[in-house]
Amino acid sequence: MTANIIDGKQIAADLRASTKELVTEFINKYNNPPTLAVVLVGEDPASQVYVKTKTKMAKEIGMNVEDHFFEKTVVEKDLLDLIHNLNSNKDVNGILVQLPLPDHIDSRVIIDAIDPAKDVDGFHAINVGRNSIGGDLLKKTFTPCTPLGCYLMLKQHISDLKGMHAVIIGRSNIVGKPMAQLLLEESCTVSIVHSKTKNIEEMTKQGDIVVAAVGRPLMVKKDWIKPGAVVIDVGINRIDDPETGKTKLVGDVDYDGVAEVASAITPVPGGVGPMTIACLLKNTVDAALRQQG
Ligand code: GUN
Repeated sequence: MTANIIDGKQIAADLRASTKELVTEFINKYNNPPTLAVVLVGEDPASQVYVKTKTKMAKEIGMNVEDHFFEKTVVEKDLLDLIHNLNSNKDVNGILVQLPLPDHIDSRVIIDAIDPAKDVDGFHAINVGRNSIGGDLLKKTFTPCTPLGCYLMLKQHISDLKGMHAVIIGRSNIVGKPMAQLLLEESCTVSIVHSKTKNIEEMTKQGDIVVAAVGRPLMVKKDWIKPGAVVIDVGINRIDDPETGKTKLVGDVDYDGVAEVASAITPVPGGVGPMTIACLLKNTVDAALRQQG
């Protein structure tokens, strides 16, 4: 079997196009573009790239982005003051604090200071609770962008997820846990495996769906995958490439091997990455529309 490639780039382009229409309607109706405030602390190169890309994509679809940059020595109070100002600023619809924050800052304190109605990452404890409860509360929350992007890609390939066994590798608050909630809501049987799981390979091999989100380059091998499974690779890892003497981006999945047994697989780059950003833009427009009632 050779896996179908799940084209995250194309699905993200389609989602950005439909979001752009919502942005245009919003501007025509309210004379202001939806606005996202992005907060970046320090100079982590990966975070800088993410923030730059988010800003560029948002502007391309007509949204407004306010970037707020801080030195890595910033104190918690300065960040909280900014968040309080952004919360009360009616022209700001969405707030994103790029993670990770430096160790001396308590991320939970900062995230929970964001108005849940502007928390387009869906990381505020109230929104995490709403995502966990599910049902009608999903209309009042924001689903974290990376798992939402994975979910939308899965839905393009599998019309009915009911009863499928999804194995999620990784238990982070950003991906693993919210991914599990989303798939439970779709009536999947969900297993989360992680670094302390004893038989991670056998567990993973039981998955009809495998979502790899561990940050370990090429960890998931061909013999971890049940033939015909659908594999979503969240990893973005930079490794040395002996062929070119340069570096290259790879996922958590050994793509070439796994593509021989899976029925569908996301590439890295061009899979989950573009979807995460497209979902952030969609969440921001949703926030703006909800704030207008
Ligand atoms: N760092 C890595 N992924 C994310 C994300 O989805 N949102 C934020 N705010 N920071 C991140």
